Amino acid sequence: MGNKAFALTKNCRHVAFIMDGNGRWAKARGLARHFGHHEACNRIIEIFETCREFNIRVMSFYAFSTENWNRPQDEIDHLMDYLEEFFAREIDYLDSVGAKLVISGDLSRIREQTRLVCEEAVKRTANNHDWILNVCLNYGGRNEIVRAAKAFAKDVQNGQKDIDALDELSFEDYLYTKGLPDVDLMIRTSGEERLSNFLLYQNAYAEFVFTDVKWPDFRREAFIDCLKEYEKRNRRYGGLVNE
Ligand code: IPE
Ligand code: IPE
Ligand code: MG
Repeated sequence: MGNKAFALTKNCRHVAFIMDGNGRWAKARGLARHFGHHEACNRIIEIFETCREFNIRVMSFYAFSTENWNRPQDEIDHLMDYLEEFFAREIDYLDSVGAKLVISGDLSRIREQTRLVCEEAVKRTANNHDWILNVCLNYGGRNEIVRAAKAFAKDVQNGQKDIDALDELSFEDYLYTKGLPDVDLMIRTSGEERLSNFLLYQNAYAEFVFTDVKWPDFRREAFIDCLKEYEKRNRRYGGLVNE
C-alpha cells in the first residue's frame, strides 16, 4: 500500500471521529439511510487497527448525539440494533488485544437492551489499558459540561470539595472522559465542517481535519491521509514555537 512508508512523528495521543455521512452514502446507492449506519459500524475496527498501527492509544467515536433524537424512531431503532451487533461481534476481539471500552453519554435514555449490552462490554474490558475506545452515545458536549458543573456543585454542598481548588484540570474529573488526554486530532467525514456539540471541552486545542469522504467509505488509506495533514500542522498553543 502506498501509505505504508508514512511515519507519524508528531505526538498524537487521542483522535476523535465524527462519523458523518452515513445517510448520504446510503442514498447515493439507492438504499434506505439505515444501511449507511450498518456499513458505518463495519469501519470502526479497521480504524481502530490503524490507530494501533500508529500507536494512537485513545480514540473517540461519535455514535449518537443528544440532538439525534430528532431523527425518525425507525432510524434510531436501526442504529441501536447495529450498535448492539457491533459490541456482540467485536467485544471478544477488543478484549483480547487489551482495549478498554468507555461509553460517554447519558445511557439512561438509551433503550434497555442496548444499555445492557453497552454496560456488559464496559465491565468486560474495564481492566484493560493498552487502547481506549471511547464510544459517545447520547452524548452532547454542553450536556456533559452542565452535568459536570452540577456534580461539582453537589460535592461543594456536601463539603467534599472546595470551590477555590477547582481548576481547568480538576474539572476534567467530572467529565465523561475523566482520565483521557485532550483530543489531538479531530476528524469529521462527509464534508461538513462543524463540531455538532462534540467533545467541546476536550477539543479546545485539537487540530481539525475535514474530509469529503463519507464515513462508510472511510478506510485505512483515507485515515492515513488525515494523519499526513495532521503531521504538517504547527501546534503553537498560543506561543511562538516553530516546528
Ligand atoms: C452520521 O451519519 C451518523 C449519525 C448521526 C448517527 P448521518 O446519519 O448524519 O448521515 P448524513 O449526514 O445524513 O449523510
Ligand atoms: C453528528 O452528526 C453526530 C454524529 C455523527 C453521531 P449529525 O449528522 O447528527 O450532525 P449535524 O446535524 O449535521 O450537525
Ligand atoms: Mg449527518
